[in-house]
Amino acid sequence: MDVVEAIRTRKSIRGYKPDPVPEETLREILEIAIRAPSGMNTQPWEITVVTGKTLDDLRQGNIETLMSGAANQAAPGRRAFEGKYRQRQVDLAVQLFTLMGIDREDREKRALWMQRGFRFFDAPAAFILSVEKSLGESMAAFAIGALAQTICLTALNYGLGTCIADQGIIFPEVVRKFTGIPESQQPVISIAIGYPDWDFPANKVESTRDPLENVVTWCGST
Ligand SMILES: Cc1cc2nc3c(=O)[nH]c(=O)nc-3n(C[C@H](O)[C@H](O)[C@H](O)COP(=O)(O)O)c2cc1C
Repeated sequence: MDVVEAIRTRKSIRGYKPDPVPEETLREILEIAIRAPSGMNTQPWEITVVTGKTLDDLRQGNIETLMSGAANQAAPGRRAFEGKYRQRQVDLAVQLFTLMGIDREDREKRALWMQRGFRFFDAPAAFILSVEKSLGESMAAFAIGALAQTICLTALNYGLGTCIADQGIIFPEVVRKFTGIPESQQPVISIAIGYPDWDFPANKVESTRDPLENVVTWCGST
């Protein structure tokens, strides 16, 4: 697949077929994706592949922790979005809820929808991307972002869909319990991966982008 086509085709997939992804395929995707750039080629990523019963246990652990009312441990100081950022967040939520037939006032259905993210959208596999805590946060986070997008684009080549999601790692202690990720590493993001279920309504979402003019400033002359 052409790289531009891949970038245009990629979208977050929130409903998957139950079919497992062969380990060899997951391995190939990662082999390719670790060509992602990193500051001074430090490659500050640790990748955990979670499948099968371990993933099911992790899903359950996340849901139990969520239901217990535990606070978001991954980003305790994270503030709510405001202004145009909040608006973009709301626009996406409205689209997803409309597709899923979830009424704005229906708290139960909204709660069930939120749980999907904590269940890795019931995908047959998930990657957890972590960094050593001793590494500088911004540089490592940038590299993790580059790796995440590269994984998502590469996955398309194998007919696979993905969803980058912080919901999966919001409870790092739960992630550690089931994956063995050591205390010295911080899980930064999860990526659900599997074969898309195109009949799942939320997969029809078409996220928007602000026009380029709103986000670009040209300096100098060409
Ligand atoms: C850092 C990051 C965290 C995200 N976390 C979640 C999440 O927890 N749950 C979710 O449903 N989507 C999550 N997403 C997916 C975004 O909602 C999605 O990328 C955005 O709406 C644009 O849509 P698209 O990926 O379909 O182009 C996340 C994406 C990124 C980059």
